[in-house]
Amino acid sequence: MSLPTRVHIVEVGPRDGLQNEKVSVATDTKLALIDRLGAAGLSRIEATAFVSPKWVPQMADADAVLAGLQRRAGVVYPVLTPNLQGFERAVAAGATEVAVFAAASEAFSQKNINCSIAESLARFEPVLARAQTVGIRVRGYVSCVLGCPYQGAVAPTAVAEVAARLYAMGCYEVSLGDTIGVGTPRQTQTMLAAVAKQVPMDRLAGHYHDTYGMAIANIYASLEMGVATFDASVAGLGGCPYAQGASGNVATEDVVYLLEGLGIESGVDLASLVDCAAWISEVLGKPPGSKVARARKPCQNP
Ligand code: HMG
Ligand code: MG
Repeated sequence: MSLPTRVHIVEVGPRDGLQNEKVSVATDTKLALIDRLGAAGLSRIEATAFVSPKWVPQMADADAVLAGLQRRAGVVYPVLTPNLQGFERAVAAGATEVAVFAAASEAFSQKNINCSIAESLARFEPVLARAQTVGIRVRGYVSCVLGCPYQGAVAPTAVAEVAARLYAMGCYEVSLGDTIGVGTPRQTQTMLAAVAKQVPMDRLAGHYHDTYGMAIANIYASLEMGVATFDASVAGLGGCPYAQGASGNVATEDVVYLLEGLGIESGVDLASLVDCAAWISEVLGKPPGSKVARARKPCQNP
């Protein structure tokens, strides 16, 4: 199969990246990051999460982040909503797109959102219903699609089942999360083949964390299968507060470099993105977690 000619990148750094930062990140810094990402050409920027601030303190300023956004034309700023309470908060704060998040592993579902997979799906039903009433698009996530930190192996059929439920409920896209970055390319293709029996390939996105350095290889494997949307985090920021040892998402600049090399359009300007990666890394006091940013812009940090 030929590769897609255009790929959509969903930038998740301000949410997935910053949710796991040890140091508290100022709301103004988050807003500056989102603005720089928009300036670099990213058109889908996951801005924050309307989750419980007791569970994820870094996202406690979700309302202020949405209120402070300098919205750019053609850019959407989706936010995470784990339940109806989060959805109503998000809508009141001006959200125009949200994402619900489930898991393919029971143990991870309990740790992450304090309920079973079935309970989480039941919780999302009213969110989807409300979203339809108020005209808000909903994306669905499935975590642990290539392995779980608590349960180990996860069957592709289990992933397909949850993805199918989210799609049937009305999610316009289902993002498949290798939450702990353990997957390898063949395994990724096997999982995608199983999910694509339930959800059309053009409604799937790859969300690969890079713990074992396999994310770029898994993206290539997914491109070969026809997936054309990928989540990524500038400077490879992040991890998951409920997945010990998980590193950040694949770095956006590494994805853009790959796509440029393959002649695939993404609409993102690599030089601006590398500047943004260097800037946010400097602010957070650590070197960028991406090969491309380190090669293009050596960090000034010791
Ligand atoms: P719970 O404790 O079971 O919730 O948490 P509850 O309904 O029993 O409510 C308990 C308290 O939380 C109440 O407050 C509620 O009002 C409050 P109290 O009466 O005690 O003062 N509460 C809320 N507050 C603000 N916003 C809300 C909200 N909901 C309840 N939306 C809950 C259940 C889902 C809320 C909690 O477990 C939670 O917030 N979890 C979020 C965890 C999280 O954000 N994880 C990271 C994101 S997922 C991820 O990173 C994976 C992904 O990147 C893909 C991948 O990589 O695989 C997407
Ligand atoms: Mg993630």
